[in-house]
Amino acid sequence: MSDNKTVLVTGASSGLGAQFCRALAADGFTVIAAARRIDKLQSICEEIRSAGGQAHPLALDVTDIDSFKAAVDQAETMAGDIHCLVNNAGSSISKKAIDMTPQDFDFVMDLNLKGPYFLSTELARRWMGKGIAGRIVNVGSVSDRKAIPGHTVYGTSKSAIARLSQQFAREWINKGICVNTLAPGYIKTELNAEFFDTPPGQALTATMPRKRVGVPSDLDKAIVYLCQPGQDFLTGQTLALDDGQCL
Ligand SMILES: NC(=O)c1ccc[n+]([C@@H]2O[C@H](COP(=O)([O-])OP(=O)(O)OC[C@H]3O[C@@H](n4cnc5c(N)ncnc54)[C@H](OP(=O)(O)O)[C@@H]3O)[C@@H](O)[C@H]2O)c1
Repeated sequence: MSDNKTVLVTGASSGLGAQFCRALAADGFTVIAAARRIDKLQSICEEIRSAGGQAHPLALDVTDIDSFKAAVDQAETMAGDIHCLVNNAGSSISKKAIDMTPQDFDFVMDLNLKGPYFLSTELARRWMGKGIAGRIVNVGSVSDRKAIPGHTVYGTSKSAIARLSQQFAREWINKGICVNTLAPGYIKTELNAEFFDTPPGQALTATMPRKRVGVPSDLDKAIVYLCQPGQDFLTGQTLALDDGQCL
């Protein structure tokens, strides 16, 4: 285990989160892989450990804010102080704006914005108490700049989280805490794999400049860079990785 390289990744049981865990572990981070499906987390952690890395599964529902303190306590018991948080868990409900119910709205906002807000403050409070120069990476989306019909609340939540990174970055800048947003374009994962296998999904792919959808490992270098301890000149920014999809 390297100093100052313990990272908690939410939504680690599949897709981007699972690959973030693999990439960060390969860079020497001790990984706390958090999500609700503990069986999936266990197999990802075993895979990381067999490759020589350090990883621990953590059961965490990002919408259960009251559980955060105990969950972070448990993570610290397993791996010591956490130095970096990747707020990756997220989802959407695909409906026309006029069909979204208040419950649909809360589902998306609670998962994509409210959970990351309170998990970040839970860690930031501990970092301030211990003088840890923590790192937070919020996973946004290029839907913060491109309006996608059927995903109005999702796009709004991703714009909000990019703004939240700026607010946290400014409030905590003199505590040494850096907060940035990683905004991917379309990457094939459990979230959208079914769609990209349909004729409308293939038609969308055909409109992309390189006529391809990304794979999770396309983000490896960016996540490792944003989580790195020791560099503190980059904060409050959004790094978009979309293979030119928004150009
Ligand atoms: N794929 C893309 O094209 C794309 C593009 C831009 C941004 N993103 C963003 O990237 C992030 C990851 O998406 P993905 O594509 O990797 O999707 P995914 O494969 O569906 O993974 C979503 C992850 O979130 C977790 N999750 C869902 N609800 C949760 C909850 N209440 N508490 C804790 N964890 C929860 C899931 O784990 P459990 O079910 O086990 O809890 C799963 O690990 C999301 O924030 C998404 O908005 C994705």
